[in-house]
Amino acid sequence: MSATAKMPDDIRAAKGRTPLVSLTAYTTPMAQMMDEHCDFVLVGDSVGMVLHGLPSTLGVTMEMMIMHGQAVARGLRRAMMVIDMPFGSYEESPQQAFRNAARLMAQTSAGAVKLEGGVVMAETIAFLVARGIPVMAHIGLTPQSVNTLGGYKVQGRGAARDALLADADAVADAGAFAVVLEKVPARLADDITARVAIPTIGIGASVGCDGQILVVDDMLGLFTAFKAKFVKRYAHLGTDGAAAIAAYAEEVRGRRFPAAEHVFADEAQA
Ligand code: KIV
Repeated sequence: MSATAKMPDDIRAAKGRTPLVSLTAYTTPMAQMMDEHCDFVLVGDSVGMVLHGLPSTLGVTMEMMIMHGQAVARGLRRAMMVIDMPFGSYEESPQQAFRNAARLMAQTSAGAVKLEGGVVMAETIAFLVARGIPVMAHIGLTPQSVNTLGGYKVQGRGAARDALLADADAVADAGAFAVVLEKVPARLADDITARVAIPTIGIGASVGCDGQILVVDDMLGLFTAFKAKFVKRYAHLGTDGAAAIAAYAEEVRGRRFPAAEHVFADEAQA
């Protein structure tokens, strides 16, 4: 990233202003494509599901995050890069979280880390922030806890509302510079947005959040295994790509590819 890239303070200062725009990215070309449009780009652990075919994010490793983080960093000039801490890299203790967050930042040049959890992670967030690591929090549906949450369900409904408000307060008080709200009722997302001093970044939350994020492979229609209700497909690259591959296969088998313009003459043409 260049010295002109956005910083966590720029993201924090956007609270209540023009909505922040964010997408996930895992590769250099995707990062280049979104750099001028996004305020920050997340190297999400969703990489495990959308690029590596894993059934959940639980199998994502530090090495995978570092490799994709380095690729994304090469494609960004102005958007800030945030990188996910993978499952098992931060939950044990604040010290474990610091060791792995420092490694992620040093080896990828990310501007911040993101980790999942509210009240339970507040001490760790404060520990990291006090030691120079900006933290984006992630509450509501936290996919790394899919096994204890009983699936990818909407969070914060009914009696669970107060717990989610407490999570929002806890991460804001601990010093997170922004908080992702995933799959929470729109009215609750609006209440959290009004309540905390840091930007809320919605994914399946509310248009009233301070910003929005989507998984890029979802919004481009590249990931087609399933489509969550909160995903809007802005393109259909999966079906377009499959049609292109079928056309290529047919032309190769019919000896129509390569054509004259794709092959070389004996002598260079003047
Ligand atoms: O890993 C990811 O892509 C995320 C977003 C869904 C916020 O955490």
